[in-house]
Amino acid sequence: MSVIPVPKSLPHDSAWTHVTGKSEFIDDRPRLRNELVVGLVYSDRAHAKLKKIDFSQALRCEGIEGVFSASDFSHNIWGTIFQDQPLLADQRVHYVGEVILVIAAQTQTQIDAAKRKIKIEYEDLSPILSIQQAIREQSFIAPERKIERGDVDFGMAASDRKLEGHLVIQGAEHFYLESQAAVVYPCDNGSLEIHCSVQHPTEVQHVVSHGLGLTSKDVVVIVKRMGGGFGGKESQGAPIAAYAALVAHKLGRPARLILNKDDDMIMTGKRNPFEIDYKVGFNRDGQIIALDAQLFSDGGAYADLSTSIMERAMLHCDNAYYIPHMRVRGRVCKTHFHPHTAFRGFGGPKGVLMIERIMEEIAFHLGVDALQVRKMNCYREGFDITHYGQKVENNRLPELLHECDEKADYFLRRREIEEFNKTSLRTGGQTLRGLSLTAVKFGISFTTRFLNQGNALINVYRDGSVQVSTGATEMGQGVYARIAQLVSEELGVDTKWIQVMPTSTEKNANTSPTAASSGTDINGAAASLACQQIKARLSELFIQLQKRPLERWASKTAGLGTEPEINVETHVPMQDIFQPAEFFSIHFENGEVFDPKNPTFRISFKDLCNEAYLNRISLCEYAHYKIPNLSFNKITGQVAPLNDEKMGGAFLYFTQGAAASEVSINRDTGEVKVLRTDILMDLGRPVNYALDVGQISGAFVQGMGWMTTENLFYSSTGKLLSHSPSTYKIPSVHDTPRDFRIHLIENNGNYSNLRGTKAVGEPPLLLSVSVWTAILDAIRSTRTDAFPDLVVPATAERVLEALTPGGLDVALKQLMN
Ligand code: MTE
Ligand code: HPA
Ligand code: MOS
Repeated sequence: MSVIPVPKSLPHDSAWTHVTGKSEFIDDRPRLRNELVVGLVYSDRAHAKLKKIDFSQALRCEGIEGVFSASDFSHNIWGTIFQDQPLLADQRVHYVGEVILVIAAQTQTQIDAAKRKIKIEYEDLSPILSIQQAIREQSFIAPERKIERGDVDFGMAASDRKLEGHLVIQGAEHFYLESQAAVVYPCDNGSLEIHCSVQHPTEVQHVVSHGLGLTSKDVVVIVKRMGGGFGGKESQGAPIAAYAALVAHKLGRPARLILNKDDDMIMTGKRNPFEIDYKVGFNRDGQIIALDAQLFSDGGAYADLSTSIMERAMLHCDNAYYIPHMRVRGRVCKTHFHPHTAFRGFGGPKGVLMIERIMEEIAFHLGVDALQVRKMNCYREGFDITHYGQKVENNRLPELLHECDEKADYFLRRREIEEFNKTSLRTGGQTLRGLSLTAVKFGISFTTRFLNQGNALINVYRDGSVQVSTGATEMGQGVYARIAQLVSEELGVDTKWIQVMPTSTEKNANTSPTAASSGTDINGAAASLACQQIKARLSELFIQLQKRPLERWASKTAGLGTEPEINVETHVPMQDIFQPAEFFSIHFENGEVFDPKNPTFRISFKDLCNEAYLNRISLCEYAHYKIPNLSFNKITGQVAPLNDEKMGGAFLYFTQGAAASEVSINRDTGEVKVLRTDILMDLGRPVNYALDVGQISGAFVQGMGWMTTENLFYSSTGKLLSHSPSTYKIPSVHDTPRDFRIHLIENNGNYSNLRGTKAVGEPPLLLSVSVWTAILDAIRSTRTDAFPDLVVPATAERVLEALTPGGLDVALKQLMN
């Protein structure tokens, strides 16, 4: 297996403006003279009746232009999957941070003063503040889901060995640098133009128009870029835009709502916390026979995306491993926390954490190396059907495990680490080390079929320059740069001739969120299709021009009408996005158009565009694209045949990879350091190598934060206490692996996707699980009896506790002496 050589990659389209501080974010929009500032009043109770809301005094405060409550919305309800969430709390509040009132004023200072004059009387009700409590009180969102294959009871009975466990996974904060933000301008006939920082402009359009009693045509939503989204702006940006829109709509003035970091962290949902019970049966050499898993997640107070996140968790419990008898059940708990939401990886990492922990545990139990257990259970030929019935096509997992093992010198370092730990334990050394290699197999596609569609609009101008508009939103991941590159390759013009335009619902309607890592797959494919139609027309024109002497071309004679117009009626079939270059007998390269059979005759792309215009040939195209071959049935939990011959999939394909991480843990403080990480991934044939490696390192480090230091801390009454960077520790550059190596394998076999590429946005986050399992491995070296229990994140306190019999108190006392 060979590793891809590093090709030349175009820089991110915002690279220069980001580093020079010129990139415009929402709050950088210039203020208009009559613009209003919007402020929010939210609940400080987790669960209470709203007995009285009195804002009469606030209305009399200087500069206050309006205070709005639930009854000011035409429809005070929204929700992405289930419409279950009020825009403004009415009668009751269900979490700390739930918005009750919207205030409009001329300045922020006036809002702060008015807030102090608002009186809200609550009658406290008892809140549900944990998954266990929700289970006891049977408080759930939606029914239980189940995915099952084989006969788990039979498989369990047939297994030589069995293990049971319980895994606690905490949530995590997205920590995007740009908070939730929206600026809304009132326009003609009561319509609104909304600029906001969201992954899903179409959702904002829906929520705002529905909330205000307008229709979609009355609302235009524009997203130029986000200062990070990470899933936190897939659904949760919509109500924020709705509050600003309410003010603009009611008062007919521009309105600006920018959350500060503390409010953003308190109000918005996080990664869903999970608790998982599992039972696994395996034989003496470590082969897994049966797995029975029950997943519970904390959905918070409203459904948001939690049921879909649970579904993805259930679909990723196998990760890279074939398990013949398998039953996964999943239930979302309704609690009194902020509604939890999408976060890079969606449910995936939760399923993967469980199965990778099981791998370590089986190895501990049998006294063998965990990598051996992983290799033995890895999907391979003949054992390549997932528990939901999809075949793992073009399976590179065995090679990835093998190659990553070699690249990382896994077994050599394993021996070194064992020696190191033995010596450390004997001599009272300060550190212990751990090593673990985990895999990822991440399904690419939205599991809800209708979301897997997109559209693109390409405008080519007479001077040969190109504007591209799609539903994809730019959040730092580089989707604009990738799409520009695809268009550049299709049309054979340099990217400096191509501008990807801010995402707008006016140009691209009925779009899906930029999520599920599918931004480039869906929107890039639509853009490529549109380019192909334009190319087909230009090719036809080229062929005709070849036959005409230059002096009779339209550019020489257009106004006179002396020459007959060239008519073009070409249309390429839309369904095949993998038109090889030869499909077009005319080639588009380096800004020139030519027929390879007669390469001396060339027309510049620019001149050809001008000729097209003068011959009244359209230079613009709109294309729609849908992901093929999807057939996951949510009711049966299985994929269905597409027709007599072909099975469909829950996913179009899988992005795969492996990572080996080595950690050192401090026995006195519990501090964790990641000494080295080797990542090997299969991204097919990347559009932009550098951007993909950027995504891999970013996702891995983001996941590492969740695995180690990012500890969300709530009071006993359900208030988030860690709501700022001083109390919530995300990784800094000093925390990244000391030695960080990233490689991509060569894979030209992903025929199912555009240009043979594979999506990258989320999958590498799941490789950060290797840091957590490496910590488990380091702790394990101190024991022979029971496999350590370790919550995610493995904070210093938890590591210390796991290292010290008797727990943290004993550990702290030892430290004091
Ligand atoms: N990268 C950056 N820099 N910022 C982000 O907000 N979001 C991630 C990932 N990479 C994110 C990011 C998430 S959650 C997803 S789903 C994908 O990008 C979405 O973009 P894509 O589909 O274009 O990969
Ligand atoms: N991933 C991310 N976001 C989503 C999904 C998904 O699978 N489904 C709906 N929104
Ligand atoms: Mo990403 S969690 O699918 O926005």
